[in-house]
Amino acid sequence: MTSADLREKYLKFFEKKGHKIIPSASLVLENDPSTLFVSAGMQPLVPYLLGQQHSAGTRLVNVQKCIRTGDIDEVGDTFHHTFFEMLGNWSLGDYFKQESIPWSFEFLTRELDISPDKLSVSVFAGDGDAPRDEEAAELWKSVGIPAARIYYFGKEDNWWAAGATGPCGPDTEIFYDVTGKPCSPDCRPGDNCGRYFEIWNNVFMVYNRRDDGTLEELPKKNVDTGMGLERTIAVLNGLNDNYKSDLFLPIINKIEEVTGKKYEENIKPLRRIADHIRASVFIISDSVEPSNMARGYVLRRLVRRALRFLHKLEAESQTVLKIAESVIDNYSPIYPELKANSEHILKVLGEEEKKFEEPINDLELYKQDLQAAIEYQLIKKIGTDRVPILSKPGIASGKYVFENYQSYGVPPDLAQDIVEELGIKFDEKELEQAMVEHQEKSRTASVGMFKGGLATTGETETKYHTATHLLQAALRHVLGDHVHQMGSNITSERLRFDFSNPKALSSQEIELISELVNQKIVEDLLVTREVISKDKALAEGTLAFFKEKYPDEVLVYTIGNPGGEWFSKELCGGPHVGHTGEIGRVTITKEESAGMGVRRIYIKIA
Ligand code: ALA
Repeated sequence: MTSADLREKYLKFFEKKGHKIIPSASLVLENDPSTLFVSAGMQPLVPYLLGQQHSAGTRLVNVQKCIRTGDIDEVGDTFHHTFFEMLGNWSLGDYFKQESIPWSFEFLTRELDISPDKLSVSVFAGDGDAPRDEEAAELWKSVGIPAARIYYFGKEDNWWAAGATGPCGPDTEIFYDVTGKPCSPDCRPGDNCGRYFEIWNNVFMVYNRRDDGTLEELPKKNVDTGMGLERTIAVLNGLNDNYKSDLFLPIINKIEEVTGKKYEENIKPLRRIADHIRASVFIISDSVEPSNMARGYVLRRLVRRALRFLHKLEAESQTVLKIAESVIDNYSPIYPELKANSEHILKVLGEEEKKFEEPINDLELYKQDLQAAIEYQLIKKIGTDRVPILSKPGIASGKYVFENYQSYGVPPDLAQDIVEELGIKFDEKELEQAMVEHQEKSRTASVGMFKGGLATTGETETKYHTATHLLQAALRHVLGDHVHQMGSNITSERLRFDFSNPKALSSQEIELISELVNQKIVEDLLVTREVISKDKALAEGTLAFFKEKYPDEVLVYTIGNPGGEWFSKELCGGPHVGHTGEIGRVTITKEESAGMGVRRIYIKIA
């Protein structure tokens, strides 16, 4: 079966069951900056899972483009990808388990002709939050899955949520038995031994996790399902490698052709090149440009990693463009926007390669030096005047990597890839420390939201950064704790701030908020930075943008007294002014809607 057949069969099957086919949303959700990229089919549907009416009705089906950035380092094995497509069907308070489970079974066994003997399932074992899902287990038995192949697991396996807050619930997962052979007497679905492949997940989304971590029941019982296209098509064709399916094969063949290297002899680099370029093409097509912050940084990282693997294979310059063209050709029949945007996509990739030419050579020098340092233990001799390349035997210096970045633009994350390749450890704390010290010294660079993301920030922008914290705290004081930052954008001219709030602000509320911000500026409160554990920070009530995505140790900025009475505490990379008095007077110039349940405020500093 081809991937085109599978997409079509899936959509048609659920269409026959009363579902409306909706298009894939963009990888970037304009009004939900709490996510970098859509990582599941349900994400664009969150407002509807929470109770809003969808214009297409209560039964929906689609194929959604997704990116999972957390998997970048896993790419290289047979089945992890940064970009993938998710086949999904939804009930928005319409049908529930009774229909969802038999339909999944019917689709797999009748439409895809999978033998029921090949299927195992897991259901939620129950805990204080939700009961043991006997109903799902009974439904599986009723369609013919024997009790021995129905597993009960806890939250780790059978509970699904897109983030720390929002809609969530118990799920039932469907596994395909690839080998039929247990790896051990305890062999079970989800143990990643290679026997069972999870192909479909049906989530019974009946709860909403509030900001304080507690659960509330949603007004309606929803079903949210997701089937990974890449792995399902591989399984259906008896392939033990997703890269051999028609989704990747033309791309892999192109890489072989343009590099002159065989896939079987260069499996990991070729998989990474194919995965990263495929993801980059889709991300650029959805209007993201490479940069040093957030989404742009993820894109830059993907492109640069692909370029580095191409460089290692001694590919000629601009080879990346030929591979990107093969991605566009392979996917345009389904995603015509790729063809429409192809000129732009190729231009962005070509420019990114030019920018990376020098750093990539310096990166190879770093690798040679590091190798020599490990081999001959010449720690001190190889290094800059001040910093040796290894901070201890077997540990690559983070400070050295930072200096390399400062002087030659060698990206720290790629340097870390090299450290890993050479099988030694990397001193990440030292890198962070060096970044923070630099930031304090110059106030021109800031540690971005993500590891290694650097941004240039001037004096005015720095003031706006701190004003953002004051504004968010003031909004919460005046409007309530439901207010959360949904996004912000700073230029040297103004701050644009998006936040959750169900209705427009009254002129009195706007007045109160701007007065409170200005009062805190007049009080000239101290702005302090501490590095503390994430758990401690969250326990103290620190506001966080991407709770689950932060490292264990985080930077917290406090306005006021960090240990006593404070006005604002936020997890943030900075930079910020030292005292609020440095900001000057703030005016709210505009308040408007920025989508459903989201308001937008513009402020100017006089
Ligand atoms: N949202 C569910 C998942 O991504 C279906 O697994």
